Amino acid sequence: MKIAFVGKGGSGKTTLSSLFIRALAADGGPVIAVDADINQHLGPALGLDEAEAAGLPAMGDRLPLIKDYLRGSNPRVASTETMIKTTPPGEGSRLLRVRENNPVYDACARPVELDGGAVRLMVTGPFTDADVGVSCYHSKTGAVELCLNHLVDGPDEYVVVDMTAGSDSFASGMFTRFDITFLVAEPTRKGVSVYRQYKEYARDFGVELKVVGNKVQGQDDVDFLRAEVGDDLLVTVGHSDWVRAMEKGRPPRFELLEDTNRQALRLLRTTVDSSYERRDWERYTRQMVHFHLKNAESWGNERTGVDLAAQVDPGFVLGESLTASV
Ligand SMILES: Nc1ncnc2c1ncn2[C@@H]1O[C@H](COP(=O)(O)OP(=O)(O)OP(=O)(O)O)[C@@H](O)[C@H]1O
Ligand SMILES: [Mg+2]
Repeated sequence: MKIAFVGKGGSGKTTLSSLFIRALAADGGPVIAVDADINQHLGPALGLDEAEAAGLPAMGDRLPLIKDYLRGSNPRVASTETMIKTTPPGEGSRLLRVRENNPVYDACARPVELDGGAVRLMVTGPFTDADVGVSCYHSKTGAVELCLNHLVDGPDEYVVVDMTAGSDSFASGMFTRFDITFLVAEPTRKGVSVYRQYKEYARDFGVELKVVGNKVQGQDDVDFLRAEVGDDLLVTVGHSDWVRAMEKGRPPRFELLEDTNRQALRLLRTTVDSSYERRDWERYTRQMVHFHLKNAESWGNERTGVDLAAQVDPGFVLGESLTASV
């Protein structure tokens, strides 16, 4: 199950993704946690100290390795140089699975011990000013998008991505790569305006979007969110002393998380799990081709000097029944 947490800066994306990841880990589910946000805070939110977080390998620095592995023996992708972030898998490509070991995880993922079990953490790498809003070619989240497009995940397997609700993810198609997207919104006009923008992009692509209200303090806050986002409001979360203690560097055991917040996380989990029956691999594949052709035309063909439309394998549909090609 691929889950994105998006929202305005400071809304609580990292906090809520990290709590959700902890809840999944406590229930024993295999989890890959991905930090694709401009502000790389997921590692610390999962309890890493500064040095540990700084020592995480950056996916953005390992793109050649990632591309080379995923390309496999796909004859339509002649070289890593012509593989762009939207290049879809085809016959001969290598696919990723949540539970396996593979060279991509070896290079880019690190285990993080949480109460109840370890998760794999992958990070895009810190963004600099130069990364923000620059050409698609250099986008740091391209590595994440490539991995998502080559991933065949089943139910009871979780990939949780902490990401920005930025224009980057709309241009590339990254925002369509999830079974469900949790938009974290504070009960403010700004929080809600990010929701509206996301909803607008999401509408044409059947993106499943649910709002998680955060820093909600009372009925008036709940009423505000309900009035602004209607039925898209899934649940609201209030201030958490557990989170505050964690931020002081004194993380309590996860089972001490407040009951109401634990219930909210359980609702996120059941919402994720029930979205599985609406998963449609054909549509998923069609959308990645759509965004690939769009990116090819707008910058990729020119950048690589080849016709990237030829990378599309017309008979290929991504899906769980595909066997790994090694
Ligand atoms: N429910 C909560 N209870 C207590 N503190 C919270 C809660 N949600 C968020 N915070 C605090 O608010 C601040 C911002 O949260 P967080 O870093 O999760 O937001 P973000 O959306 O990931 O921000 P950024 O855009 O900077 O990545 C943090 O200090 C966090 O601890
Ligand atoms: Mg964050």
